[in-house]
Amino acid sequence: MKNVIAIDGPAASGKSTVSRGIASALGYLFVSSGHFYRALAWGTVRDHLSNEGIAEWIGKRSLDVNVSTGGLLLLLDGEDVTPHLSEPDVAAKVSVIAAFPAVRDYVNSRLRSLAESHSLVMEGRDVGSVVFPETPFKFYLDASPEERARRRAGEGKIDSVAERDRLDSTRATAPLTIPRGAIVIDTTHLDIPQVITAILDHLAKNPPAASPQ
Ligand code: CDP
Repeated sequence: MKNVIAIDGPAASGKSTVSRGIASALGYLFVSSGHFYRALAWGTVRDHLSNEGIAEWIGKRSLDVNVSTGGLLLLLDGEDVTPHLSEPDVAAKVSVIAAFPAVRDYVNSRLRSLAESHSLVMEGRDVGSVVFPETPFKFYLDASPEERARRRAGEGKIDSVAERDRLDSTRATAPLTIPRGAIVIDTTHLDIPQVITAILDHLAKNPPAASPQ
């Protein structure tokens, strides 16, 4: 396995932007594990699937990952899912389908296989706790609920973040949690460059072994 920097936390804690910044500073591949769940959520909307059929449905899917210079491209059953990832239907469905163990197993196998060929900065809800528990590089970003709501509103996103947080934190399989050994950073009063600097400072003290991408 190549190096994996795991960055977990709730919605609007700054994970995506910070993770992209860390990936770019280190020359690693940025991976949003949430995009894999969103891709499958879009598939369930496309197929008008009810939750009962999900285990059988997932067995018939092909979710392919293309790594290009621009980052990751996800293809569900051959179709580029990029235009669909932020659709309101997808945001409403994603935390529901992400609670199914069959869905999580399917996504986890794809996420893990990426680390065979690339050093990664991966962000999500269970990256340090379940997907790569063995990585020594784990961070957990948080911010007050008010600040997170303010950030989402500022992005112009209408998204039931509070409901997703509730579902993500209370599900039986791989709930959102602070991974054992993670460094916790409260970003409420920090801007993005400050969080990136804090993480890079930690990594400088305990650097990942050189592992070309
Ligand atoms: O951008 P934001 O943090 O709001 O969400 P995201 O990373 O796109 O993830 C969307 C949803 O996917 C989350 O609310 C979780 O329900 C699910 N997810 C998960 O269960 N496990 C992960 N490792 C990543 C995302």
